[in-house]
Amino acid sequence: MKDKKIILAGGSGFIGQFLAKYFGGDNEIIVLTRQSGATHKNLYTEKLLTEKDGIQIRYVKWDGQRTEENWQKEIDGADLMINLAGKSVNCRYHKKQRHEILESRIGATRAIGEAIRSINSPPKVWINVASSTIYKDSHDRPNDEFTGIISDGRRDNMSYNLIDQLRYNKNKLLARLFHGKNSNEYKQLDLDFSVQVCKQWEKTFFEQQTPLTRKIALRTAITLGAGGVITPYFNLCKFGLGGKHGTGRQMFSWVHIDDVARMIDWLFNNEICDGIYNCVAPDVVSNSSFMKTLRHVVPNSSFMKTLRQVTGHRFGLNAPAFLLEAGAFIIGTETVLML
Ligand SMILES: NC(=O)c1ccc[n+]([C@@H]2O[C@H](COP(=O)([O-])OP(=O)(O)OC[C@H]3O[C@@H](n4cnc5c(N)ncnc54)[C@H](OP(=O)(O)O)[C@@H]3O)[C@@H](O)[C@H]2O)c1
Repeated sequence: MKDKKIILAGGSGFIGQFLAKYFGGDNEIIVLTRQSGATHKNLYTEKLLTEKDGIQIRYVKWDGQRTEENWQKEIDGADLMINLAGKSVNCRYHKKQRHEILESRIGATRAIGEAIRSINSPPKVWINVASSTIYKDSHDRPNDEFTGIISDGRRDNMSYNLIDQLRYNKNKLLARLFHGKNSNEYKQLDLDFSVQVCKQWEKTFFEQQTPLTRKIALRTAITLGAGGVITPYFNLCKFGLGGKHGTGRQMFSWVHIDDVARMIDWLFNNEICDGIYNCVAPDVVSNSSFMKTLRHVVPNSSFMKTLRQVTGHRFGLNAPAFLLEAGAFIIGTETVLML
């Protein structure tokens, strides 16, 4: 891609900053962000890219919910819109956080749709990031675009352990007592929140009528690169905690961030591409195999190095489901992100 105007909505984060660097040498990048100019940094408190890094990049303020003239006029005449905006899922799923995780994604998608409809020269292509979490957990065949099975309930999307069962029973009882058997609160407990987010996010995207703009939902797997989600995994391995999680049998779908950028380039250039695409490496691995590979590539702390020299083994303590529950609570995340 060359000499194109690319809009990165939510482009201040892990994937957005990588794409800005990848495309920014030859193209003009506009990042839509909720931050004000003076305080630019991302979730990882990294300083955001600027023109001093040798790329053509500007940051334009939006609120991720409403169309406003200042950013609407930026997308008029753009070639490619990539929407990455959304509250990070790396948090405890309380009611308020759930609301924000969902609303940030559908609100931003809806606002972009509205903006595209109201300008003279809409972008040629709009890529909305989506997630491969939408698929059912599968051990016998890959979930591809044609035969992949969309998850329906909580139990078929993730490993389900005794603690999940106890939590489910408790919540079901409370919902029945306080809201009744026919209430939404009761019925929705059978649905997996993460999958519901994926479904509503894509539904909102495909509802947007943009006849002059080719639309692609990019169901992206866990994206690995320098930073982002790999950082906590690296830290676990560094300190000898890089064993398998739970049974270790759960499949880990991943994609390298270089390939995310290359796929976006390819999708933009291939005019027949339209609709839903999976952005994932062809060979998924089990959690235990992923952790084993990490133990071999991550540089150890000096204590772990000495231990390895003395014993000749690379240690990595396993984390059974109940320990992960406790750990996730302490670090303020959800076990579904690890299991
Ligand atoms: N990383 C992965 O492994 C992965 C895999 C599959 C799908 N995805 C999806 O891809 C997208 C980008 O991922 P990422 O890793 O780059 O995420 P990220 O680092 O968390 O960046 C997301 C960006 O969204 C914006 N944002 C946060 N809360 C928002 C809110 N309430 N309303 C509007 N915008 C908000 C933030 O920008 P400002 O603060 O500047 O506004 C943030 O920089 C996300 O939607 C994520 O769910 C990621």
